[in-house]
Amino acid sequence: MPYRTIIEPFKIHSTQAIDFPDADAREAALQRVGYNVFGLHADEVIIDMLTDSGTGAMSARQWAGMMVGDESYAGSRSFYRLQEAVQDLTGLAEIIPTHQGRAAERILFSVAVSAGDVVPNNTHFDTTRANVEYQGAEARDLLIPEGTDPSNLHPFKGNMDIEALEATIQDVGQHRIPFVMVTVTNNSGGGQPVSMANLQAVREVCDRNELPMILDACRFAENAWFIKMREEGYADHTPKAIAREIFSLADGCTFSAKKDGLANIGGFVAVNDADLAGRCRNLLILTEGFPTYGGLAGYDMEAIAIGLEEVLEDEYLRYRIRSTAYLAEKALAAGMPIVQPPGGHAVYLDARARLPHIPPSEYPAQSLVVELYRDGGVRGVEIGSVMFGSPNEDGSEDPAPMELVRLAIPRRTYTQSHVDYVGEVIGSVAARADSLPGYRITEQAPWLRHFTARFEPVHP
Ligand code: F0G
Repeated sequence: MPYRTIIEPFKIHSTQAIDFPDADAREAALQRVGYNVFGLHADEVIIDMLTDSGTGAMSARQWAGMMVGDESYAGSRSFYRLQEAVQDLTGLAEIIPTHQGRAAERILFSVAVSAGDVVPNNTHFDTTRANVEYQGAEARDLLIPEGTDPSNLHPFKGNMDIEALEATIQDVGQHRIPFVMVTVTNNSGGGQPVSMANLQAVREVCDRNELPMILDACRFAENAWFIKMREEGYADHTPKAIAREIFSLADGCTFSAKKDGLANIGGFVAVNDADLAGRCRNLLILTEGFPTYGGLAGYDMEAIAIGLEEVLEDEYLRYRIRSTAYLAEKALAAGMPIVQPPGGHAVYLDARARLPHIPPSEYPAQSLVVELYRDGGVRGVEIGSVMFGSPNEDGSEDPAPMELVRLAIPRRTYTQSHVDYVGEVIGSVAARADSLPGYRITEQAPWLRHFTARFEPVHP
């Protein structure tokens, strides 16, 4: 077949207008929010790549499904529909709906993690880490070394370091590890996939040490597509068959339906252990809601059940992963180094490489985030020392392993010309990168400081 552009596999059926704040309005907004783009009103943003979480467009099928949502408090038909969809996909028996991913984390960790425990993960997402630490446990990241080298082209840079996992178990003792977690795809490490072989190896270590294996499955479908494209033996498998194989290796998962659930809200815990599920449900009733809705409306559960089917369609995943690669090509052509190869849901600009004059203590990735907004109203998120730097007692900070800006792509929301525009903004910022200032924090919270911290530029 002749070469053809991979097009959006949908027609646009309803639209939302974009506002275009001018340069003065953007400057005033930056000062008001203390150079933290989390403080912006969405109407002050032209292209919003802050997150791919809950920001996607739903299909007409999902909206239609919402109209038949059953809002019964107990025993909602929509819950049983969701339960069936999740059981069919994951093979896991006990399905506990929650209002989003971090609620699933808090509920599972509250009942399964104790103070002094160590939770291994390829890389904890920020809320996952915070929820582990909130239990008084240590969240330990055990990514393969290739995973933190932005230019390394390893096809599965989300893989867990199996030797490091075994060493951790030896070192801290099996009894202090409640479970081993694997995040697919590895969001904080660049949206990089985990191979089936690596998942099998983790399973094998878990079996040998009688440890449960829990997936942070937010982006399972994108991970399945990468396995289909890159791992030997999977080219002819459907994404659904691959996804099922991934889940078949696990004893449970936490899930945010705001990603590969193609929904605006929702999540769940799914496990096989009925006793564990019972304890989760008791806490669920206390803080989220009755076990057949868990903080969701019936219509949300309908949207998720349908989203879980649509997200595994070949046409959708081919377009999805291609649109991310397309943004990556634009960034590279604009002279901006990125984490290679591009991940599933986002492109990660490498601020350390392009802004070497700003030390990690002055947050080069924060500087880049500010400039993308100032230049063209594009909102990304810092994934570097603001998010992951750890303060020392003397007031200094250990820097994060990488200084990245994540441009996450909402699902089914922006077109190719939106992405072309983002490429132009990146080019304009890259051209004057050498003159950008560092930043210092003027206010911060004790946890998850990146959401609310205020900054000021450091002018040499
Ligand atoms: N795990 C991973 C890997 C995530 O990426 C997220 C959310 C969560 C858990 C928590 O889910 O938001 O529904 O509570 N990631 C979003 C992001 C916020 O922008 O990457 P949640």
